[in-house]
Amino acid sequence: MEEWSAATIRDFRRTLLAWYDQEGRDLPWRRDHDPYHVWVSEIMLQQTQVNTVIPYYENFMQVFPTVTALANAEQATLLKAWQGLGYYSRARNLQRAAQQLVTDYQGKWPQTAAELTDLVGIGPYTAGAIASIAFGEAVPAVDGNAFRVFSRLLLIEDDIAKPQTRQIFEKIIQPIVDPQRPGAFNQAIMDLGSSYMSAKNSDPAHSPVKAFDASFRANKVDDFPVKTKAPRPKLMPYYGLIVHSSAGYLMVQRDANQMLTGYWTFPLLIQADLREKEAATEPSLATDIVAIEQQFATDYQLPIHLQEVSGQPVSHTYTHQRWQVKLLLAELETVLSLEFYPGKWVPAAEITALPLPKVQEKIMTRFQNQGHPRVFPKN
Ligand code: ADE
Repeated sequence: MEEWSAATIRDFRRTLLAWYDQEGRDLPWRRDHDPYHVWVSEIMLQQTQVNTVIPYYENFMQVFPTVTALANAEQATLLKAWQGLGYYSRARNLQRAAQQLVTDYQGKWPQTAAELTDLVGIGPYTAGAIASIAFGEAVPAVDGNAFRVFSRLLLIEDDIAKPQTRQIFEKIIQPIVDPQRPGAFNQAIMDLGSSYMSAKNSDPAHSPVKAFDASFRANKVDDFPVKTKAPRPKLMPYYGLIVHSSAGYLMVQRDANQMLTGYWTFPLLIQADLREKEAATEPSLATDIVAIEQQFATDYQLPIHLQEVSGQPVSHTYTHQRWQVKLLLAELETVLSLEFYPGKWVPAAEITALPLPKVQEKIMTRFQNQGHPRVFPKN
């Protein structure tokens, strides 16, 4: 690993900030240093690219202009504003932290990174970002960009997939952060990390900090950061039930024990849950359909007849799971009572008013593309 002298550190700060002042991106959350703006943008940017975030951020600030508005929001309004961004627990944590700010902090923001981590969903990265950008505290904000930039500049070989590695980087970066302009320093690192020092399209030869880049000098840019591979997402086969009557489509809201909590989908059944562990016969589509029909008839008093919707399963990948949803259709002659079923009939024209996860949008698109009438309105 490289060691920088005090003179090199000063030189680096000057070079980096001069570049940032000229070339830093004009982004909607950079127009002021309001901690609410910084916070919401940083949460959105954690797993999502800048270009995707911009319209969501603008809309979010229209719908929830203040911490209080967010704290008091209806769940459905919140989930709708987040729809399509993914990692939905971020939205729920935002609201819980907003409620903490209103009730526990009387609406006054804690102003140091150490205190900010007491808020729900604010980890060391977000705390560093808010404290430096909104409150001028000289602390690092170590996200994927900072890992990449500093591992390359300084040839840091620690495995960034390991949880302990963040603290190693924070210790290394802390004395480099510009004490006068820590927020600009951290955002300059982010901009460097998404341009000259990006993961896929790096251009170290033209980087403003090329002279400080030990990985470029050693011709080893692509060896950094060091990161062991995450395990492959687990394959999760599902059935997606499209149950239609003159009252609309059968829909269920996902509960707190499931991912995508609060969002609405067609009934989704995990295929393995339908099958006995040591069944005498091989599972097949036909035996699974019988099992689902029996479950609906006995558990929910809902006699349905399912048929296959032709085509490959709908596929959607999350961090740890790859869902493959095989679609099955039941057309009902009469509207059945949902007294024993935890769902509701939703008229086709009202479906897109509900908060829907991406996988549900994909299912609806596939159903329509499979020759079924266009019944769901566009968003
Ligand atoms: N990525 C994470 N935070 C960011 C920010 N504030 N600006 C640009 N990209 C970012």
